[in-house]
Amino acid sequence: MFGKRILLGITGGIAAYKTASLVRLLKKSGAEVRCVLTPSASSFISPLVLATLSENPVHIEFWNKETGQWTNHVELALWADVMLIAPATANSISKMANGGCDNLLLACYLSLKCPCIIAPAMDLDMYQHPSFKRNLATLQKDNLHIIPATFGALASGLEGQGRMEEPENICQFVADFFVQKKNEAKSAQQKILITAGPTLEHLDPVRYISNHSTGAMGFALAQAALQKGHEVILITGPTQLSLWHPKLTRIDVQSADDMMSEVQAHWAQTDLGIFTAAVADYRPAQVSSTKIKKQEEQLSLALLKNPDILAWASANKTNQIVVGFALETNNQQENALKKLSAKKLDYIVLNTPQEGISGFGASTNIITIFGAKGQTIALPLMSKLAAAQALLEILDEKTHEK
Ligand code: C5P
Repeated sequence: MFGKRILLGITGGIAAYKTASLVRLLKKSGAEVRCVLTPSASSFISPLVLATLSENPVHIEFWNKETGQWTNHVELALWADVMLIAPATANSISKMANGGCDNLLLACYLSLKCPCIIAPAMDLDMYQHPSFKRNLATLQKDNLHIIPATFGALASGLEGQGRMEEPENICQFVADFFVQKKNEAKSAQQKILITAGPTLEHLDPVRYISNHSTGAMGFALAQAALQKGHEVILITGPTQLSLWHPKLTRIDVQSADDMMSEVQAHWAQTDLGIFTAAVADYRPAQVSSTKIKKQEEQLSLALLKNPDILAWASANKTNQIVVGFALETNNQQENALKKLSAKKLDYIVLNTPQEGISGFGASTNIITIFGAKGQTIALPLMSKLAAAQALLEILDEKTHEK
C-alpha cells in the first residue's frame, strides 16, 4: 500500500476507539492517512490521538470556529485513492444511501471520485433491521465495497452480528483491494492514441518549417503499449522510425492541421491519449504553389498560429485520460505545471533536455510526471523505451484506481 492515500472516515459508534490501531496499521503498510470524523465520533476517539498517529490534521467541522477557516471537502475527496469509513453507523449509512450531507464526512463522501469501502458496526437488531438492510443494498448498488460486521460480544452486552471487523482484517481488506485493482488494470486492454514526431509546415513546394523531433519518445511509448497488449493509434509527423505490430494503426501526417484532423477522427474511440508530438506552433500564412524566388536582402514571413491539438483533445474528452509532454529549457517545473492546468490535462510529462542525454534525438531520457491531483513522480535517466514502460505502468495504475 506504499504511497496510497486513504481518507479514513470515522462515524460515532463505540468501535471508533479501534481506529487508533487501524490508523497505525495503515501507516505501517506505507499508506498516507487523513481522518475525517462526524461530530459525534470525537466522543469515542480523541482527534489528538488520530492526528498524532496519522501525522495529519483531523477534520471534523466545515470550518474552524475560532479562525473561520474553511475545510475544503472537495480537496480532501480528490486527494484520496480510497475512502474507508470505519466504523460506519446505521445513521451515517442511512444518510449516505439517501444523499444526506449534514456533516463534513458526508460532504467528502458525496464528492468522491475514488472507490469507497465501509465497515458497518452497530447493535445486532439494528444490523438486521429491514431499513438498514435496504440502505446497505442501496450502497452496494452505488458500487461501495462492504466489509460485513462480525459476530461476537456487542457494547449492549448482547451477542450477535454487529461488531466492526478487526483493524488487522480491515487493513488486509484494503491492501487486497488495491492488489485486485492493479490486476484488473493489468488485464484491461485499452485503445491508446499517441501523437509523435515533428510537424512539417510547407512554405512552398521545396521548403518547410519544422523542428528537431525524431519521434523516438512517441514510438517508444507505442512499442511499450503494444507490449502490454494495448491497441495503439500512432499519429506521427515525418520520421525515419519504423514500427510494425498487428495491433498498431500508424497514420503518417505532415502538418499540424493534418495531425489535428486525424486526432479528431479517432479521439472518441480512445481510452488514453499521449501527446508527444513537437507540433509547430506556427505555419506560413500562405503556401506558395511555386518556389519562392530570392529577391530582397530581407524577407518577412507572415505566420499563423497552429491549432493546439492537445488542448482540443482535453476540451473534447469524454472519459479519456489525457497526457501531455513538455520540453522546457527554463523554469521547467513551473512551465510544465502551467501547461497541466491551462490545458486541463490529467498528467504532464516534463522532458528535461540535456545535450546528448535527454530530449531530441537522444536514446535516453529524464522525465518527471506531474498529475492533476498534485502527484509528482521523478524517474531517473533511462532508455526511452524503459521510460515509456515506466510511464505506462504508472498510468495503468492511476487509471484503474478510480
Ligand atoms: O504548449 P506546448 O507546445 O509547450 O505544449 C506541449 C504539449 O502540447 C505536447 O504534449 C504537444 O504534443 C502538445 N501540443 C499539441 N498541439 C500544439 C502544440 C502542442 O498537441 N499545437
